[in-house]
Amino acid sequence: MSNHTNHRMNEVLRKIQEEALKQIKEATGLDSLNDVRVQKLGKKGELTAIMKNMRELPPEERPAFGQMVNSVRKEIETAMEEKKQSLAAIARQMQLQSETIDVTLPAKKTGLGHRHPNSIALEEVERIFVGMGYEVVDGPEVEKDYYNFEALNIPANHPAKDEQDTFYITKDILLRTQTSGVQVHSMEKGKLPIRMIAPGRVFRADELDATHSPNFHQVEGLVIDKHVTFADLKGTLAEFARQLFGKDTKVKFRPHHFPFTEPSAEVDVTCFKCGGKGCRMCKGEGWIEILGCGMVHPHVLEMSGIDPDEYQGFAFGVGLERIAMLKYEIDDMHHLYENDIRFLKQF
Ligand code: DAH
Repeated sequence: MSNHTNHRMNEVLRKIQEEALKQIKEATGLDSLNDVRVQKLGKKGELTAIMKNMRELPPEERPAFGQMVNSVRKEIETAMEEKKQSLAAIARQMQLQSETIDVTLPAKKTGLGHRHPNSIALEEVERIFVGMGYEVVDGPEVEKDYYNFEALNIPANHPAKDEQDTFYITKDILLRTQTSGVQVHSMEKGKLPIRMIAPGRVFRADELDATHSPNFHQVEGLVIDKHVTFADLKGTLAEFARQLFGKDTKVKFRPHHFPFTEPSAEVDVTCFKCGGKGCRMCKGEGWIEILGCGMVHPHVLEMSGIDPDEYQGFAFGVGLERIAMLKYEIDDMHHLYENDIRFLKQF
């Protein structure tokens, strides 16, 4: 009987051992390994159960059987420990493979920004005038009423003030409506002669539409010297137009009125698209208006402390957006302010 029991229990133990080693060998992760531990070695596991069953054996056989159970337990534990380490090694290997950096791959391109059409147009305008010996100067965007209007011969009740109604900070301080005020700052410095352009942001209480914006840019130009005539003005702006729009470009001076220049003119250029024949670009006119200009009004010179009998000058003002829109055939001013990268990338 005892022999038979012994035999049966040995058989069970051998099965446990065999099955455990097989399961350990086949385990694919720590989870399945833990299942084996619980199932075979745990408090309610198969080895614990077989130990309890030792009571069925004759007392003299129990120690030997107990030792056998213990050595099976040890064997399973060792196998589990080894498997654990090999699983860890595999995991590490996989991690290393997945995190491999191929240093020979071409680098990712970082998206470089793109210059705005306004900036490109401004650089072009600056290049042309710097080439003619002009200095590029800066002026304040928040300006005194005096510089924006008064000193430019636009007194308090002048109707031109209405046309350019603006954003007032106080009664006397405003966001400039034109870059012309920079002329006054330059003249007041008292260093003559002057050859300068002043690009910058201007503000007007205008509604936003295809050709207007409450915030846009101008480039102001001013030359003060002895013996400056309207012919100098014409020659300068004709050269500017040729450099900007092409060497066959012609200019036309139409009489106009600006309070700060006398005489004053608006300048048209022959359409660079059709050469003057008339097309969609120039609305069939053959000419496109690009700027305002004139001989600096003697009163304006006087107010800034320059003797008009000794010095004369000419001035002009260009809308930068207008130049950019013409040059790059942009049909709506909105595009210039929306900063849509798909639009900006085209220039
Ligand atoms: N400031 C004028 C404007 O905003 C443009 C202008 C016209 C500027 C004639 C000038 C000039 O310097 O002489 O409409």
